[in-house]
Parts: sequence; structure tokens; C-alpha cells
Amino acid sequence: MPLGPIQSFGVDFQGRVAGADGLTGTKSRVEPRMHTAVVGLQWGDEGKGKVVDLLTAQHDVVVRYNGGANAGHTVVVGEDTYALHLIPSGILYPDIECVIGNGVVVDPGKLIEELDSLRSRGIDGQQRLFISDRAHVVLDSHKMLDGALEEFLAGRSGSKKNRSIGTTRRGIGPAYADKVHRSAAIRMGDLKRGGDSLRDQIELACELHAHQLASLGSPERPDPKRILDDFAHWSDQLGERIIDTTYHLHDAIAQDKKLLFEGANACLLDVDHGTYPFVTSSNCSTLGIPAGTGMPGRTVDTVIGIMKAYATRVGAGPFPTELDDAVGERIRERGHEYGTTTGRPRRCGWLDLVAVRYTCMLCGVDSIACMLLDVLWGFEEVRVCTSYRLPDGSTTDRFLPDSIGLSGVEPIYETLPGWDGPINEDCGREDLPDGARGYLDFIESTLGLPIGLISIGPERTQTMVADHLV
Ligand code: IMP
Repeated sequence: MPLGPIQSFGVDFQGRVAGADGLTGTKSRVEPRMHTAVVGLQWGDEGKGKVVDLLTAQHDVVVRYNGGANAGHTVVVGEDTYALHLIPSGILYPDIECVIGNGVVVDPGKLIEELDSLRSRGIDGQQRLFISDRAHVVLDSHKMLDGALEEFLAGRSGSKKNRSIGTTRRGIGPAYADKVHRSAAIRMGDLKRGGDSLRDQIELACELHAHQLASLGSPERPDPKRILDDFAHWSDQLGERIIDTTYHLHDAIAQDKKLLFEGANACLLDVDHGTYPFVTSSNCSTLGIPAGTGMPGRTVDTVIGIMKAYATRVGAGPFPTELDDAVGERIRERGHEYGTTTGRPRRCGWLDLVAVRYTCMLCGVDSIACMLLDVLWGFEEVRVCTSYRLPDGSTTDRFLPDSIGLSGVEPIYETLPGWDGPINEDCGREDLPDGARGYLDFIESTLGLPIGLISIGPERTQTMVADHLV
């Protein structure tokens, strides 16, 4: 699939940003690469799908290492829009292999739906998809439990305060919980094996989940017979795609293939390093790559951090720069900020560089992709949060990865001039309006990292890519 015209804007390979208005002299950690990771630097929906899609052409294998069908990656190719949840975005290219690593929780029914939907649009990804035999299965009863727990926490079944997380109800938390609990967990390798032991496992999981659902006050109960039938169907459809992906990936590297690791969800939702407990249940940051794929930590050569030009969040949890006003509404409407997975309106706010600096540090980011810059067109001025005021009146430029601490901070903003004028898709960075260039320069200097990609619309062609990424 050919890429559209991509504009280069003068970041040379030594990592010195040399564009007309670029930040000269910034020391970049960008180096010649083999294996790349792409990770969301905020609370998700940064546009990772588009960046993975663009970078896929330079790689051979695209690998998912975390999350499940809670993720939603939208890729626009010409007239067609693809919304992918479980399958790596690389599937849209012919000849690219896609791997679902052991760190992912797989809803096989959803995966088959996704494959069928791609097939109906002329993309046959089945033979290029490999699923880890150690990836855990998301059962219907995990989804029931996810919903029942959310209802319980929302106070509808006796709890006094709304403590719900606002999950996607895709069964992610309960599936990872079973993985750690162990006894009721079922892996893709078990699905492939089938037989009496699988029947036993399914019956045990159903029994346990029925107890849990009853204790949460839910009337729903899993049906082991239906699940067994589902498993027989899934095994027929997916059985031969389930392999030991750890050896497969090590073999790929031995054959000089280039890997692209595609992070799902995003860094501030990382279960260990995000705004706990308002996070998802996996390690979404690059720290999840080794455990979620079986590749050593040193495998990745280049990390590309994806950042929206502003900030959004779905679900509950602290969000210091949230705008509960007409500006937030304007960003939501212009950015079409409604969830790909659930359709929920996203909370919107100004860019929080305290948060992004933290996630760049955590993930070892080499280069930033600044997405959805077009959404900020037409504002008289734009604001960027560069530090927080703490409840005791002191200030800090460090992020607080804890929901109680973060709820108490007040953002301190820099106000920058806005910009307007026609959006010229064929322009380079140096042709952008003054305000937009100033905004990008400010981000680079605050983060101490180069911006390697700028997106000004959903299409592949509406992208400017620096030399170090192409
Ligand atoms: P869960 O992953 O369904 O358990 O949801 C936990 C939290 O993470 C909720 O606030 C979700 O809205 C959020 N979340 C999970 N995946 C994504 C994503 O891909 N984009 C944005 N938010 C997400």
C-alpha cells in the first residue's frame, strides 16, 4: 500500500533539529534503528494507529504486547476507515506479520469478528497473524464481572460512594485478575489443545465467576455449555494461528527482520506507573514489552512517543488540565473526541507537559509524534501546563502518578499565541503558521526531545515526517 506524500521538515540524522524555526542544537537520542516501539504518552487515543500504520512500511513484524479489545486504533486509508481493537494495525499492509504477544488478553470472538470484517473489505490477515499460546482468554463471564464490579462500585448495589473506574467493560480487569489468580485462567494454548482438561477449566471458571457475580448482586450467570461451543468454534477458526510467539519473535530477529512494538491504551493508564487506580490492568508503557512478548529489555532501539497536541481522557480519574467549558467542548467537537471502543464523549483539556515529560522519561522516548495539531487551529491563544501547584502552595514540575495526589494539584500554564489560516496539506513544518511553529518549538524545548512527526488530519497524506523517521 503506497504512502502518500510525506513532508520532511529538516531533522537531520545526527538528531539536530535544523528546520528554519526548529530548535537548533537539541540533543536527540535518535539513532539508526532496527526495532521500534510506539507508545501513547497520555491517557490513550493519541493516534497511535496512524503512526504504526506509517512506520509499518519500514518493519517486517508488528507486535502487540498489552491490553485487549479495550484499545481502539483508528486508521484512515483514502476513503476507508478501519477501527482495530485487537489486531495490530500493521495488518492493513500486505506481507506484514502481526503478532499478539503473551501480555495481551484475547477475546477470541471479537478477534474473529475483526478478521471477518477486514476480509469483507478485501484484507485477508488470517495467515499473517500469530497469537501467543500464553496470551490469556477473555471469557463472556469476565465481561459480566467487569460490568457487575463497575455497577457495584458506582454504588448501585449498596456501596455509598461512586468508586467506579469507568472501564470499557470488555472484561480486561477480570481477565488479568484471573491470570494472576491462576486457577480459573484459560490461555490461548488451552483453547488450541481442547479436550477434557479444557472442559474442566471452563467449568471451574464458570463456577467461580457465578459465585463472584452473585456476591456482587448481579443476576447474570455464565453458561458453560455455550462457552464450550464457542471454544470449539474458536479453536477451528484460530487454532493454527496459536503458536509460541516468543520463539517466533526471537527467530524473526535472527533472520534480520525488523520488529515494531505497538503499545495499546497509554502510559498514564499503566497499572504500575499511571494514575492508579484509574488505570487499565496492564503495563502499557514500554516497560510492558519484555514481559508481554518474551523479548529482552534491550531489544528496542527507538521509542516513538505519541502525543496529542492537547489532552483527553475517557473514564474516571484525575485530569489536571481538563476544560469543563466552551473551549473543552470546541476541542471535543473539532477532534471528534468520542471513544472508538465505547463511543463515550472524551474529557478534553490543554496539553499537560508535566505528564508528558514524565511518560517520556518512563518509556525512554527518542522522538515525539505530535498528533491532531489541526484541532488547535483558530484559537486566539493556546495554553500549555508546565508545572503544578500543590495544596501547600509549593510548585513542582514532577508528575504525581497517584490519583489522590494528582487530584490536589492546580495546573500552572504558559500562554502562547494561537494561529489560523488555511491548512495546507502539502506544507512542511517551516510553512506552518508562526503560532503553530512556536507551539511545536515550545514543546521540543520543554521536553528536550525532537518532534519527528506532525499530524494535521486523519489521512496518511496529512502527515509531516522528519528525516530520522523515514
Ligand atoms: P479497562 O481497560 O476497560 O479496564 O478501563 C480502565 C480505564 O482505562 C478506563 O478509564 C478506560 O476508559 C481506560 N482505557 C482503557 N483502554 C483505553 C484506550 O485504549 N484509550 C483510552 N482509554 C482507555
